[in-house]
Amino acid sequence: FHRAMSILPKVYVTRKVPPDGLDILRKSGQVQFEMWDSDDPVPRVELLKKVKGCDGILCVLTEKIDAQLLDAAGPNLKVLSTMSVGFDHLSLDELKKRGIRVGYTPEVLTDAVAELTVALLLATSRRLIEATHEAKTGGWGTWRTLWLCGHELANSTVGILGLGRIGVAIAERLKPFKVKKFIYTDVEPRPELANMIEAEYVSLDELAKESDFLAICCALTPETHGICNWNLFSKMKKNAIFINTSRGGVVNQEDLYEALSTGLIAGAGLDVTTPEPLPTHHPLFTLKNCVILPHIASASYTTRNSMSALAANNLLAGLRGEPMPKELKL
Ligand code: DGY
Repeated sequence: FHRAMSILPKVYVTRKVPPDGLDILRKSGQVQFEMWDSDDPVPRVELLKKVKGCDGILCVLTEKIDAQLLDAAGPNLKVLSTMSVGFDHLSLDELKKRGIRVGYTPEVLTDAVAELTVALLLATSRRLIEATHEAKTGGWGTWRTLWLCGHELANSTVGILGLGRIGVAIAERLKPFKVKKFIYTDVEPRPELANMIEAEYVSLDELAKESDFLAICCALTPETHGICNWNLFSKMKKNAIFINTSRGGVVNQEDLYEALSTGLIAGAGLDVTTPEPLPTHHPLFTLKNCVILPHIASASYTTRNSMSALAANNLLAGLRGEPMPKELKL
């Protein structure tokens, strides 16, 4: 038994991941794994120690997988599996250089993220958080004609920055609200996806100018870093609602604060910020027209279990030298 154990590939799991993934790892009999058995991130020093000599690592988005970490892991490392669709926490160049294969979790979270995006959009445009606060704290004097009025989706133009699976899923859900038109921009037109939602390809400028609701659905890359800045906000409509469920890094938060506090745009709903958690004293928290959620777009029990299962299956397939169910092409 001991001999069998010692020759099984060694894996480090950087967080207590949902049970479906852990069951898959346990039942596989294919790996010996150690886990940071906590809901909070593993301290960096501990992580650097624990990955030493590992064949595989299963991580979440709070772990920076960079040259330092890969050096600490050493030459045995063959597979890195992240329980996320986003991969901006991974140094892809460094992984590629070392021939390490990478798994991630697209598709399984599309529905949950789209659903939350719609919820956040409506909460922001119809001022739900402000409204419940008023109702609870005595602000509800009587029925008033323009009190807590917001903006409606019916007859609106919805813009999508970065059209992928999630953008399409958001548009499909918004369509029954009688949206008039969907427009999008991306590095290039995506006719196959766009046709599914009859969305028109426009420039970033036009997207800013024409959108009543603007949903940010792109990946964080050097090209998209800070792309939502003063230049963009200043072209937007006064009634526009800005929604971000991608990554905080795509937004220049100082510019967003200015845009919201001066009435340049009507409101913003953010599920992602820089940093995370956003400090409670951050100016954005003082604004009534800014709804901030703590990065929960994929947070349904079903989806988080699917992500954990897919991350486990990616890891195991990678260690067997087989194609992963969802492998990132490096
Ligand atoms: C991801 O998967 O990248 C999300 O941000 C968390 O589900």
